[in-house]
Amino acid sequence: MEEVQLTELTGKMTLDEKIEQMTQVTAAFINKEYSEGAVTGPFAGMDIAKVDASGAGSVLGEAGAAKLNKLQKTYMDNHRLQIPLLFMADIIHGYKTIFPVPLAIGCSWDTEAAESSARIAAREAAASGLHVTFSPMVDLVRDPRWGRVMESTGEDRLLNSLFAEAFVRGYQGENLKETDTLAACVKHFAAYGAPEGGRDYNTVDVSERELYEHYLPAYQAAVDAGANLVMTAFNTIDGIPATSNQPLLRGKLREEMNFNGVVISDWGAVQEAIPHGVAENKREAAKKSALAGVDIEMMTPCYLNHLKELISTGELSEGLLDEAVLRILQLKNKLGLFEDPYRGGDEEKERITLLHDTHKKKARELAADSCVLLKNKNEVLPLKKSTRAVLIGPFASSKDLMGAWSIYGEEKDVVSLTEGMTSLSSSVVTTEGSGIHSTNEALLEEARNKAEKADVVVLALGEHSEMSGEAGSRSQITLPQAQIQLAETVASLGKPIITVLFNGRPLDLNQILNLSDAVLEAWFPGSEGGHAVSELLYGERNPAGRLTMSFPYNTGQIPVYYNHYSTGRPKKSGTLEDRFLSQYLDVPNEPMFPFGFGLSYTSFTYKNMTLSGHTFTEEEPMEVTVDITNSGSCRGREVVQLYTQDLTGEVVRPVNELKDFRLVMLDPGETETVHFLVDATMFAYYHSDLSWSWDPGTVRIRVGRNSEDTQEATVTLTKTSKG
Ligand code: BGC
Repeated sequence: MEEVQLTELTGKMTLDEKIEQMTQVTAAFINKEYSEGAVTGPFAGMDIAKVDASGAGSVLGEAGAAKLNKLQKTYMDNHRLQIPLLFMADIIHGYKTIFPVPLAIGCSWDTEAAESSARIAAREAAASGLHVTFSPMVDLVRDPRWGRVMESTGEDRLLNSLFAEAFVRGYQGENLKETDTLAACVKHFAAYGAPEGGRDYNTVDVSERELYEHYLPAYQAAVDAGANLVMTAFNTIDGIPATSNQPLLRGKLREEMNFNGVVISDWGAVQEAIPHGVAENKREAAKKSALAGVDIEMMTPCYLNHLKELISTGELSEGLLDEAVLRILQLKNKLGLFEDPYRGGDEEKERITLLHDTHKKKARELAADSCVLLKNKNEVLPLKKSTRAVLIGPFASSKDLMGAWSIYGEEKDVVSLTEGMTSLSSSVVTTEGSGIHSTNEALLEEARNKAEKADVVVLALGEHSEMSGEAGSRSQITLPQAQIQLAETVASLGKPIITVLFNGRPLDLNQILNLSDAVLEAWFPGSEGGHAVSELLYGERNPAGRLTMSFPYNTGQIPVYYNHYSTGRPKKSGTLEDRFLSQYLDVPNEPMFPFGFGLSYTSFTYKNMTLSGHTFTEEEPMEVTVDITNSGSCRGREVVQLYTQDLTGEVVRPVNELKDFRLVMLDPGETETVHFLVDATMFAYYHSDLSWSWDPGTVRIRVGRNSEDTQEATVTLTKTSKG
């Protein structure tokens, strides 16, 4: 349809029809034959069940070509104006072929692989009739108590921005008319990743500068990459819930960030203005969100029940609704739904596309590249295939490897670690040892017996997938005690212990690190996880993942992140030489494992860091080169990281900031010279008046293998070559 036809169509719609377009429900509300679908929020008490929402313009949480095509058909048979339904769902890291959780994908530092994972997710989900995915989640995260850190790519705004763009490109492709694409919905706007105390849905209170400098860039990157929708967050921003926050949604998002697409509320968030205490009733909640510019209300009926009256009393203008409706129709049109309401949904296509071998191969590669080797004492890894290994732990044969946000993935399609290891070696025996939370003497005894006969113990430990994800906050982020007890029992035998961790957040690993010779952080690696991890354990692949979120020493040290500000009393060294400094008495200031950290089966040396001069200007950037040599004995990938620090600003500056990186694949003995360009704009920041510019002065440039292990040079940035 042409734009003018869309406007004409809006003109033909009754007020009720417009309000229906602005409402989203699960399939059961449109057609009673359907179940509730994927319910990802509270259902009872939301009042939606009491209203007739059968004319709603979009549906969430249902998938499958047969089901969705049927739903569309009955809807279209009854829709006066033939406006098709829009189908949305949470396709977060894969549809049927499940990729590692986003935090793991972040640790691959591989934006191309991330893009192809999204491409594959879109191809599969579109064949199953979906049109929109509630992804990417680009919330910056610093608090691993928050269960949803697993949905983020980590604590750095540059990486988050690059991944945001990659995911959007992957989902949307070149043109949404191509029926194997999905429209992307970036979320959760804004700063949902900063809830106080890491407790989900809790208050967020960040300064304007912090918001602009660290939190908004990744949303902006997604918007610039063409994301068609934005989802509002549950939290407050500056005291106002994001979903009824006019300055945030109309001011920042639409005016400053130039977003022209559809804004959708999160599940029930319009109505949550009432418990937040900013609306007295649902009528006021509807009014506030509509004024703020929320185009679609998800799963509550405030719009359905109250917008009409708000217009009749003149409290809202119909023009405001027309704008929202037009944006929704534009999205439907972009997706080609007016020409073909059934779009990509096709059972035959589904049959050949879902879990295609090429998809599984990509999932396996990305899972392997997402794992982070945290410890490898005496090079206990990789294992020889002839080594007698006993695989013990609640995750040894578990298929719970997909993570909390893999709604359509099925455990039957998951490769467990036992399956992966036994496919590579015939010298593996498996036993459970303990439950995730429960100790069982008989299981412990069996584990001890089997371990006694083995050369090496592989412990498969972690968090159940429901222990992270939405509403998965924890106040202590240790491994459950039953698993520590299992590790202690086995460790008492004195065999080498390799611990593989399956979990959705950085954990407090103190106890398990002491008990293990090697630790491999495998996250929730997805459907091919068992194969990917086994290939790493047996050295068929070399671990290449690098952390994108710091691992704290303990829960009390949270938040701990690499790009923090300096203080007036910075700690100078590892010792408590002076009491009156910003430090803890019981743990270091640094995390247990810093941002950018990860080991390999080979080693990389950094030599000859060379800069093109002592000063640089806005016209002439600084060239930085460094020689990276694979000084070990197997091929491997290094993530060469460039950081900077502005030593003096008008406002305080972070002690370190990632500015660029390169993925370098090297054979043993091979050297590559890596080039970086450091330019003046890399030092721009928000000043006290929130203007964005850089200042001349002394800056530090660092190149290294992680945010703490770098070589550095101090140089001067001047305005022009004339000084
Ligand atoms: C989550 C969103 C999700 C939505 C729809 C909410 O509870 O916060 O991330 O997209 O449900 O399932």
